[in-house]
Amino acid sequence: MTRVNICGIEFKNPVIAASGTFGFGREFEEYFPIEKIGGICTKGLTLNKRDGNRGIRIYETPSGIMNSIGLQNPGVRGFIDEELPFLEKKDTVILANLGGSTLDDYLQGIELLNNTSVDFIELNISCPNVKEGGMAFGIKCNTALEVVKETKKVSKKPMIVKLSPNAENIKEMAYTCVEAGADGLSLVNTFNALAIDIYKRRPIFNNITAGLSGPCIKPIALRMVYEVNQVVDVPIIGIGGIMTAEDAIEFIMAGATAIQVGSSNFIKPNISMDIIKGIEEFMEKQGVKSLKEIRGII
Ligand SMILES: Cc1cc2nc3c(=O)[nH]c(=O)nc-3n(C[C@H](O)[C@H](O)[C@H](O)COP(=O)(O)O)c2cc1C
Repeated sequence: MTRVNICGIEFKNPVIAASGTFGFGREFEEYFPIEKIGGICTKGLTLNKRDGNRGIRIYETPSGIMNSIGLQNPGVRGFIDEELPFLEKKDTVILANLGGSTLDDYLQGIELLNNTSVDFIELNISCPNVKEGGMAFGIKCNTALEVVKETKKVSKKPMIVKLSPNAENIKEMAYTCVEAGADGLSLVNTFNALAIDIYKRRPIFNNITAGLSGPCIKPIALRMVYEVNQVVDVPIIGIGGIMTAEDAIEFIMAGATAIQVGSSNFIKPNISMDIIKGIEEFMEKQGVKSLKEIRGII
C-alpha cells in the first residue's frame, strides 16, 4: 500500500536515499538490506572523476550539518563500471544524480547513462560547493531553461530536475524547468551558509560558504514543496531534514509523491527503515489505502 509511481516507474515505498548521503549503497548493506528502500539516488556524478574539496568537509551546527564535499565521485564511467553492477542487483529504483559545469558535460554524461540500467536521471543544477556542481544553472531561470531543454532532448531516461533553495524564485524556477521538459522535480538541495572559526578569525570552510542541511531546514523545504506544488503538475520528490515518518508524511501532504532522506542517514544509517515502518503504521491507523489519498491534501 506504500507503493508510489513516478513517470511510470514503480517504487515499493516513497522513501529514497538522498544523493551524497548514501554513497552507492555499499556501506549501508551492513545496517539493513538496501533493497527495502524505495529508491537510491547516487552520489552526484560528474563526467570526469573528482577528488573533492580540501580542508574541513563536514561541520555540525545546531540541528543540522554544513558540507563542502566538492562532488568527490568516480566519474560517470567509473560509476558505470565499478558501482552500478552492485546496485543493479538490488531490487530498488536507481536515480543517477548528475552534475556539470558546462552544458556539454551534462550532455556527455547523459549519453553514457542512456545505455545503462539506471531508472532516472536526477539533474543536479543545485550543488553549491563546486563550480562543476551546476548551481550556476539553478539560480537564474534562463540558464536552467537552457540546460534542462537541451539535456531533455538527449535523455532516454525520465529526468527529475533537482532544485536549489538558493534559486532567485523557487516557483518560477520550478515552472521554468517543467516548461523546459522536466518529468519531475526534486527539492531541495542544501542552503548556502557560513560558519566562522573565531579563534582563527576565518571561515571554517576553504570555500568560505558551504551547504546547510538537516532538521533545521525542514520547515523551509516543506514550504517550498508546498509552493512548487501550486504551480506544476509533475511529480515532486520532497527533501530537507526528514528524520521521521511524520516528517515524510508532512512532505506528502504538502504535495510530494516521494521523499528523500539525507543528513539523517549519518545519525542512524538504517533510519529509512524506521521511516518506512512509520508510514505503514500511520496509513493503517488512519485508514489510508494509498498515499495518493493524502498527497497535497492541505
Ligand atoms: C554530505 C552531503 C553530500 C551531498 N552531496 C550531494 C550531491 O552530490 N548531489 C546532490 O544533488 N545533493 C547532495 N547533497 C544534498 C542532499 O542530497 C539533500 O538534498 C540535502 O542534504 C537536503 O536534505 P537533508 O536535509 O535530508 O540532508 C549532499 C548533502 C550532504 C549532507
